[in-house]
Amino acid sequence: MKGPIPINGATRLYGLLGWPVKASLSPAMHNAAFQALGMDAVYVPFPTPAEHLAEAVRGLTAVGVAGFNLTVPHKSAILPLLRHVEPHAAAMGAVNTVRHDEDGLSGTNTDGEGFLLSLRHDLGWDARNKRVLMLGAGGAARGIAHSLLGAGVAHLIIANRTVSRAQALAAECAARFPAARVEAIGLGESAGRAPHLLVNTTTVGMGDGGSPADVTAVGVSEAVMDIVYHPPETPLLTQARKAGLPCANGVGMLLYQGVAAFRYWTGVEPPVEVMREALEAALRARGH
Ligand code: ATR
Repeated sequence: MKGPIPINGATRLYGLLGWPVKASLSPAMHNAAFQALGMDAVYVPFPTPAEHLAEAVRGLTAVGVAGFNLTVPHKSAILPLLRHVEPHAAAMGAVNTVRHDEDGLSGTNTDGEGFLLSLRHDLGWDARNKRVLMLGAGGAARGIAHSLLGAGVAHLIIANRTVSRAQALAAECAARFPAARVEAIGLGESAGRAPHLLVNTTTVGMGDGGSPADVTAVGVSEAVMDIVYHPPETPLLTQARKAGLPCANGVGMLLYQGVAAFRYWTGVEPPVEVMREALEAALRARGH
């Protein structure tokens, strides 16, 4: 175990704005990366209630913060506070990573890239010309839907308990990706859809929750991804494993969104395996 990061007058400050942020695994991941690379930088959680976001961002900017992440409830509210927003993040209406340099505050969204990198590295899965059934139509689903279509998915079926939310997201996706086929259905209508990939973005399966779908009845042919990581194996992933399908939980997405954020902030290639080990150690320390 290396010693603590020595803070000095030149230490660069990074952090996470959210409410709550106490349970975040990002400090463990980014500080391990800074330490492994010998970078004079530190990543700190900043518990920030919704009504104090603008004030917090002004204050952090004034004291020279180098960059920060945003989580619930700030991913959309941050947009009007930024000078530059990457086009894909603007289209999603959500920013999770901000860089502060001589050009002011620039924002991007690395959640989708994190999701796609996890599909590629953890499952060896490529999105081009595939059919995907995505469960859920909330904030996480929105970023994932845009990323999947951007990566070449030909047919996206969005299944949600509240069908009107699935319809609204499907309409938004169809407008941005007119070449793709995008459908909206109820959560109970997933049987027989035969997707190559099944993705769960709902909170069903967290804690003691059940499964949002029956993998065998859905007829998944290639892989299953659940963005939940507590518990590490949700009932949906247990079904997938028993069906012999490659599957992954949300740790990879969390890892790779952090990897992409690190690159955006520093321009330096981060030590991915160090970050993965730090995440897994932090999860183990919590008894997950
Ligand atoms: P996030 O930003 O994490 O995606 P969210 O925007 O609150 O969070 O979305 C949560 C998702 O989980 C939604 O798709 C939600 O379905 P509704 O739109 O119908 O609310 C889904 N969800 C949450 N609890 C659920 C439950 N008990 N059964 C089915 N779906 C559920």
